[in-house]
Amino acid sequence: MQLCVIPGDGIGPEVIAAALRALEVIAPEIRIVEASAGWGTFQETGVALPEATLAEARNADAVFFGAVASPSHPVEGYRSPIVALRRALDLYANIRPVRSEGLAAPMPVDMVVVRENTEGLYSGRERQEDGGNVAIAERVITRRGSERIIRKAFELAVQRQATAGERQARVTIVHKANVLRVTDGLFRTVALEVAQDYPQVAVEELLVDTAAMHTARSPERFDVIATTNLFGDILSDIACIHGGGLGLAASANQGDQGALFEPVHGAAPDIVGKGIANPLAAIGCVALLLEWMAQRSDAAQQRYAPAAGRVRAAMATVLHEGPHTPDLNGTATTNELTNAVIGQL
Ligand code: NAI
Ligand code: MG
Repeated sequence: MQLCVIPGDGIGPEVIAAALRALEVIAPEIRIVEASAGWGTFQETGVALPEATLAEARNADAVFFGAVASPSHPVEGYRSPIVALRRALDLYANIRPVRSEGLAAPMPVDMVVVRENTEGLYSGRERQEDGGNVAIAERVITRRGSERIIRKAFELAVQRQATAGERQARVTIVHKANVLRVTDGLFRTVALEVAQDYPQVAVEELLVDTAAMHTARSPERFDVIATTNLFGDILSDIACIHGGGLGLAASANQGDQGALFEPVHGAAPDIVGKGIANPLAAIGCVALLLEWMAQRSDAAQQRYAPAAGRVRAAMATVLHEGPHTPDLNGTATTNELTNAVIGQL
């Protein structure tokens, strides 16, 4: 098993270093290959995602990505390397679980946002007309892209039910087909077709604005949400509040072969270098990586499912007992929190 690690910019390297310490304790046999990407790499070399990094990512079984800083103003030749990487590796499913386990949450939340990762409004098809006075982004929805993301969501719901006891598996299809009649019309049609193959899973549809309200107010009602790229990006940031915020939110990007694991948060320029970034989102990625590895064979299941369970248990204990970093109203440093997790492991 080879893991390509791309720490990136800002707090990326800080939280990745913490998570690799945990990984080294729990699965020292995994070979780590480091590669570079991001704004820093762009400034040094003129390329945000070097060919060598892409080659290492393709060559590895999985990728572990920190965060990159992307300026909001257009910079000639720069495009976000994480968006490029997801597309280059065809990691079409962005899976963002939110659990309130270990937190003093008013209601137990255990939901997953499954976000389409390769098309929609992030297709990169933007242009100007009328001398720059009109700006247009094309929202690309395909039958193939919709079908595979919806199938991923239903498969995940079935898989979650197998481990969640008596809870009814449910997929909520989120769209805005009442306004985006052609694009989300297609997404919705395909979703309802795929749903026919999963009679054991309950299906509901919500318009994205209503889904945002429910995600904020009654997240405990959700199991798996399946949606398009931009909607999923926004909904998953709302949802992550119930799991302790961005400092705790981990995500997996999956394709048919590879996978890339990354914290949901970005480079956090406001706290970089202070040593106070919460490493739990990155350590949560280690749990997701081990869970993904466990699915690859029966032998892997025996080895890595318990390992993932140990990481989750260690995180839950530390969340419950402390120490906590400032984003969770504590005073601990990244290092102190990492030491506590490793102590539990
Ligand atoms: P951000 O996620 O970097 O930060 C948002 C807020 O959350 C900040 O106040 C930050 O301090 C806090 N925060 C984030 N992660 C934290 C952690 N682990 N522990 C404690 N606090 C944490 O989002 P923002 O500020 O919108 O973007 C900053 C830069 O990051 C931008 O250049 C943006 O392009 C990039 N970004 C990159 C992403 C990626 O690489 N996947 C995702 C989101 C943003
Ligand atoms: Mg986001």
